[in-house]
Amino acid sequence: MNVVIIGAQWGDEGKGKIVDYLAQDAGIVVRFSGGANAGHTIVLSDTTYALHLVPSGILYADKTVLLGSGMVIEPSALFAELEDLKSKGIQWEGRVLISDRAHLVLPRYRQVDRELESKRKKPIGTTGRGIGVAYAFKASRDGIRLADIGDEDCLQNLEKEDKAYLAEWRPRLEPMAVDLVSYLHQHQNSWTLFEGAQGALLDIDTGTYPFVSSGMSCAAGAAAQGGIGPRKIDRILGVFKAYTTRVGNGPFPTEFKDDSPGSLSSYIRTTGHEYGTTTGRPRRCGYLDLVALRYACIVNSIDRLVLTHLDVYDELPEFEACVGYRIGDKVVQDFPASVKDLEQAVPVLKKFEGWKQPIDSCQSWEDLPLKAREYVEFIEDYTQTPISIISVGSERKKTIIKESPWIRS
Ligand code: GDP
Ligand code: IMO
Ligand code: MG
Repeated sequence: MNVVIIGAQWGDEGKGKIVDYLAQDAGIVVRFSGGANAGHTIVLSDTTYALHLVPSGILYADKTVLLGSGMVIEPSALFAELEDLKSKGIQWEGRVLISDRAHLVLPRYRQVDRELESKRKKPIGTTGRGIGVAYAFKASRDGIRLADIGDEDCLQNLEKEDKAYLAEWRPRLEPMAVDLVSYLHQHQNSWTLFEGAQGALLDIDTGTYPFVSSGMSCAAGAAAQGGIGPRKIDRILGVFKAYTTRVGNGPFPTEFKDDSPGSLSSYIRTTGHEYGTTTGRPRRCGYLDLVALRYACIVNSIDRLVLTHLDVYDELPEFEACVGYRIGDKVVQDFPASVKDLEQAVPVLKKFEGWKQPIDSCQSWEDLPLKAREYVEFIEDYTQTPISIISVGSERKKTIIKESPWIRS
């Protein structure tokens, strides 16, 4: 059975936590896109793990994890991450495999990424990891795939230092290379999780272009880049926060205007620890944008939503959520393509009463206060998508399962 998990906002929704939680019942976890721009956090009682390239199932000793064909992988960054995991007691040898169709990131791409940013009149605010450069080379057919690392014909256009870099890592990479399509076909009876990176609104096609990343973070990416055909996907889960965050530049209709100390924005940032896992940048904060979430549900065929960070609202007497955009003299519920429209959009807000009590020890739907359940039900109604999992804290165990994803629709 194949379950896909993607971000339904602008990234950092808590995908890592949810994939880690669900991986206890899976055999295989495939990360299908992105690179070291991602930062997926997993909190066990005494240790916090920040994963960038390694799929989130790695913490379980009996799971095999695969880096998918849509990923762009910098070998030195990958092995640094694996060494770090080892220093924390995670034995990874033999259970981390890499699709031989995945593309490799050369160290100099980081510099090119920074140079491109410095020339942009409106910078994107990239993570500076060379991700866009790697995907640009891939699209122009000048990229290097793992399968090609020993093929002189494929390396002929590279500089001497690039060749030396690849030659250095080749002996460690090649034993981990696998034909992902054939591997998953052979293991088609396993329960497999497909872990997305970034989020629907950062996807190169469905996101707020050009303020997006360069990979496929949409659910369709799990098929094209995760090694299975689209008909083999049984369930698609979209993870979203009780509010919205964004790191980097680009339109964000519900962003709080006031970010001063003591403001709601600063309260949410502090309470939700809203600082980038990869770059440490403060995340921009705003109310939940239901227009954007509904769009993410539709364009990704999301079967079930996963709500995280509900606990961050515990102390608020009231809060709001965006149910429409006022653009000029119209109110719309469809998410516009135009950056200008998104920048001009004035959110139409609906007020909710807070529950004013801690919920992080709630274990079931019935344990949640009525006001929290009303908020959840409103979101389900608006998006026409059931919420099957609710996360009430960063730790693995602070997770309420309303319905297991391991059932076919
Ligand atoms: P990802 O990129 O989607 O995996 O998300 P990140 O790891 O970048 O950011 C999510 C942050 O929120 C991490 O620090 C998590 O430990 C934390 N987190 C995840 N779920 C919850 C939750 O339900 N409540 C709170 N308070 N924190 C959470
Ligand atoms: P996870 O998987 C949040 C953002 C960057 C920037 C834009 C382009 O942890 O949710 P890039 O370096 O990819 O060219 O940057 O995308 N971005 C993310 N924002 N979470 C992420 O990943 C992100 N990966 C990229 O901040 O705005
Ligand atoms: Mg993240």
